[in-house]
Amino acid sequence: MEYSTVSPSGDLNEQIRTAAVVVCCGSGGVGKTTTAAAIAIEAAHLGRRAVVVTIDPAKRLADALGIAGLSNTPTRITGPWSGELSALMLDTEGTFDALVTTYAGTPEQAEKIMGNRFYRNIAGALSGTQEYMATEKLYELSTSDEFDLVVVDTPPTRNALDFLEAPGRLARFLDHRLFRVVTAPTRGIVRAVNFAAQPFLRSVAKVVGGEVIADALGFFAAFDGMEEGFKQRARLVETLLSDDQTSFVLVASPQKETILEAQFFAERLSDYAIEVRAVIVNRVHPWFELDESADLDVTSPERSGLALVDYVTNLGQLASSAREDRRHLHELREATEAPIVEIPYLPFEIHDLTSLKALGEHLFGKAGDQVEE
Ligand SMILES: Nc1ncnc2c1ncn2[C@@H]1O[C@H](COP(=O)(O)OP(=O)(O)OP(=O)(O)O)[C@@H](O)[C@H]1O
Ligand SMILES: [Mg+2]
Repeated sequence: MEYSTVSPSGDLNEQIRTAAVVVCCGSGGVGKTTTAAAIAIEAAHLGRRAVVVTIDPAKRLADALGIAGLSNTPTRITGPWSGELSALMLDTEGTFDALVTTYAGTPEQAEKIMGNRFYRNIAGALSGTQEYMATEKLYELSTSDEFDLVVVDTPPTRNALDFLEAPGRLARFLDHRLFRVVTAPTRGIVRAVNFAAQPFLRSVAKVVGGEVIADALGFFAAFDGMEEGFKQRARLVETLLSDDQTSFVLVASPQKETILEAQFFAERLSDYAIEVRAVIVNRVHPWFELDESADLDVTSPERSGLALVDYVTNLGQLASSAREDRRHLHELREATEAPIVEIPYLPFEIHDLTSLKALGEHLFGKAGDQVEE
């Protein structure tokens, strides 16, 4: 056989046994949430105390994990494992609020910020907030002594690097000239009011509405004094992401463009001196031997309309997808030194512990149908 379906799960298993953090990243829809859940379950089976931070899982998966209601704290899931498994669904705004509470000088300051409309808008919507809050949650959980392993799912962004760059982006946002101008040298609301009187802001206010400007200025004024704490925190999160005990696992599909994105992402990670510890190629069409000389020409008129014809046509299409997948995998193998683990396209939905277990068996090399090279 030209291309094998062997999954060198060994290195991934090693990561799950020893890492303190596993980050599942990759482009949209490739299976990040599913594999993050399967990894945490495996760690629990290995006797570790694992927690998985999921981001918008499908409702049935959230139900299966017992986290259907939005909760920002880990929920323990009982199951047949010797370790512990907890899961939580990231609540971006709730995490941001908790961060504000931590760094506010007084409870009044925290309240003022949280009640501000500009803050309420950016807390959920500022580009990169979800990514940053995911890293923030990761930091919070990894510094608690309740867990041995934190598995993080990442948001479905077009650019998988957002996750890595988010802490720095917030620090840069707080360094922004506008922020500096509003908050220094005189501090607080007096300065903000003066600033609002400037002609530039008056014309902006005509477009976006005076209230928006007032809300934004109120936010910056209320935030005054907290930026150092936030920046320090962002640096700690960055340090955690580049720690040796943190393992980046890249999830990809066997399609050409996803593989190219995976290669690009791996290169960018190396700019941060982070190496991809494993690449999971998910939903690989299963390989089956098809006799090349078999007569698959079903186009002759006397054969059309037969159920068998549809079946054979399907088989031909599957075989060709399987061949394509293996070609892309081969290219990926040439391009990366990271171990590649394959998960086949499973013929069922993955939304409960049983189907997650089935996926996990492929991921961790326990499935019986692995083909040796
Ligand atoms: N190996 C597989 N076989 C069959 N279905 C799969 C497989 N892996 C994942 N799925 C299904 O594909 C869908 C997408 O998976 P998942 O939600 O984990 O992707 P994601 O990368 O987290 O997506 P998003 O970027 O939107 O967050 C889910 O319905 C999941 O059940
Ligand atoms: Mg997801």
